[in-house]
Amino acid sequence: MREDHQEAVARVDGARLWQRHAAMAQIGAIPGNGVDRAAFSAEDIRARRLLVSWAQARNFPVESDAIGNLFVRRPGTDPGALPVLSGSHMDSQPRGGRFDGIYGVLAALEALEAIDAAGLKTRRSIELVAWSNEEGGRFQPCTMGSAVYTGARSVDDFIDVRDNAGIALRDALAATLAALPEARPRPFNMPAAAYIEAHIEQGPLLEKQAKTIGIVTGIQGLRWFNVEVFGKTDHAGTTPLGLRKDALRASVAIIAALHEFTHDPQDITRFTVGRMLVTPNSPNSVASHVLFSVDVRHPDTATIVRLGEAVEPLARRAGAPCDVKVTPTLHDDPCIFDAAVVGTIERAANDLAVPAMRLPSGASHDAMYMARVCPTGMIFVPCEKGVSHNEAENASPEDLAAGARVLTAALLELANR
Ligand code: HGY
Ligand code: MN
Ligand code: MN
Repeated sequence: MREDHQEAVARVDGARLWQRHAAMAQIGAIPGNGVDRAAFSAEDIRARRLLVSWAQARNFPVESDAIGNLFVRRPGTDPGALPVLSGSHMDSQPRGGRFDGIYGVLAALEALEAIDAAGLKTRRSIELVAWSNEEGGRFQPCTMGSAVYTGARSVDDFIDVRDNAGIALRDALAATLAALPEARPRPFNMPAAAYIEAHIEQGPLLEKQAKTIGIVTGIQGLRWFNVEVFGKTDHAGTTPLGLRKDALRASVAIIAALHEFTHDPQDITRFTVGRMLVTPNSPNSVASHVLFSVDVRHPDTATIVRLGEAVEPLARRAGAPCDVKVTPTLHDDPCIFDAAVVGTIERAANDLAVPAMRLPSGASHDAMYMARVCPTGMIFVPCEKGVSHNEAENASPEDLAAGARVLTAALLELANR
């Protein structure tokens, strides 16, 4: 590794990185050491403002695109050269952890600060990106900001989506954009030379193998659906079961049939129903309408296509005599990361003598979309027992700092190519 690059890596400040995680964890803090920082919420806005305050302290210019993706740039020497991007997301699950997403944003900021402190010039600009609504917990689907930025979807596809309280994305997004007037406007889909995302593994492998760094090879495929079941509300005490169109009973039958269909003795297929809205949601009225989510995942392209195609016919059959409407909201085939970027990350880990291994990602990330538009890779660090999307999510300051050092070395390598 070049001497000047080593100098920058040595400037990665693990204590500052840990303190910034603690500061961010105060925003949307919930009992059990977790966070609830939904996309485009007041908490999301506070996290954005805190990130921008740190960027402005370094005089890094800040930009925002029309769906609120935030960009912080450390300019390079060659204005004609495509930038290198690095980042992740700041929104969380409703019972989220203190590291999912935010680690990739703060590790990228740490890399920019360390490179700046070392006074290094890079040919390419290096840009931190904080993607909007990666989780999709409040407004479906997930990875919304990166999908729109890369042109895979348009803002109009989502602008009228409503959360469980009936708030439209349109209004929550407008409030979020208005909260950061200092962010200069940024067009969608600006070309990039490369993208690296640092993230906790959200699985147990690194911890089991006693490795500090995961060199991520790709992301498994996933498909999301909203299933709506239409019945008729009736009196629970007087309506004979034979005369009912019970939307909740039909939903239970559909979900049982989907579980049976996706059952995989090797336990590779992932099938989840995590969200359900019932109307009128009263103990003594038969349900007239149910909306529930379907999340199905698999590492093999043909399998994820087959599983997804089966959802609608199966739901219609199992849901009778209720009417059923199945709306696909996401279809991401498995992605393989760029060999050159994966190699750059591996070399950085080896140069820094950090124990590392290659592995695929079971969780999806914004890197899924960036991989379609530029050479992309990811760096994982361990999380305790692989637990994530849970308040108990935990990681060590040492591992977070090691990941930030590998990220800094890899970004410098890419920014000087
Ligand atoms: O759902 C996912 O895989 C990501 O953690 N949002
Ligand atoms: Mn994440
Ligand atoms: Mn997540």
